[in-house]
Amino acid sequence: MTQATAPRVLIDRERIRERVLALGRQIALDHPDGELVILGVLKGSFMFLADLARAIDRPLRVEFLGVQSYGNAKTSSGAVQITLDLTNPIDNADVIVVEDIVDTGLTAQFLMQQLAARQARSVKLCSLLHKPARAVQPVQIDYLGFTIDDVFVVGYGLDYAQKYRNLPDICVIES
Ligand code: IMP
Repeated sequence: MTQATAPRVLIDRERIRERVLALGRQIALDHPDGELVILGVLKGSFMFLADLARAIDRPLRVEFLGVQSYGNAKTSSGAVQITLDLTNPIDNADVIVVEDIVDTGLTAQFLMQQLAARQARSVKLCSLLHKPARAVQPVQIDYLGFTIDDVFVVGYGLDYAQKYRNLPDICVIES
């Protein structure tokens, strides 16, 4: 596949691997018993979720939720819609919502509100990235990979117009 612009590595695969292992260990320590559900928000979290699940050394269930936030390719308008709902109940489970990035915070806030109504034992947020400079809505991130500056990132699951998700590092597109 040809990709139009050359991406520059911001966080390389080794740093990602170490951070994801540490997050997985912490999540396992914090949830020694009960049913644990790792809930990936599609599509951006798919690669992070796959690595995180393997870093959590205890039984767990993997579920997915699809959301779409309307806007242009680089900014969300704040209007969020569930495009794929949960297919199994989460009542009485400890749920970790796994996001690729908290940017304005609007998607995460919407999701946490929706999930609060579903009788889970607990709902926590795990995000690979946080861009605090663009926060519109304050969101509590219980498990965070990396804080980044106000740059548009791709790779390791994140896209620009559906491209670049397969890059193994987190990169910035040079334009
Ligand atoms: P929100 O602005 O926090 O609601 O983020 C909405 C969604 O926009 C995220 O889950 C990402 O899928 C996407 N997004 C925000 N910033 C970036 C970025 O820098 N690169 C790729 N996707 C992003």
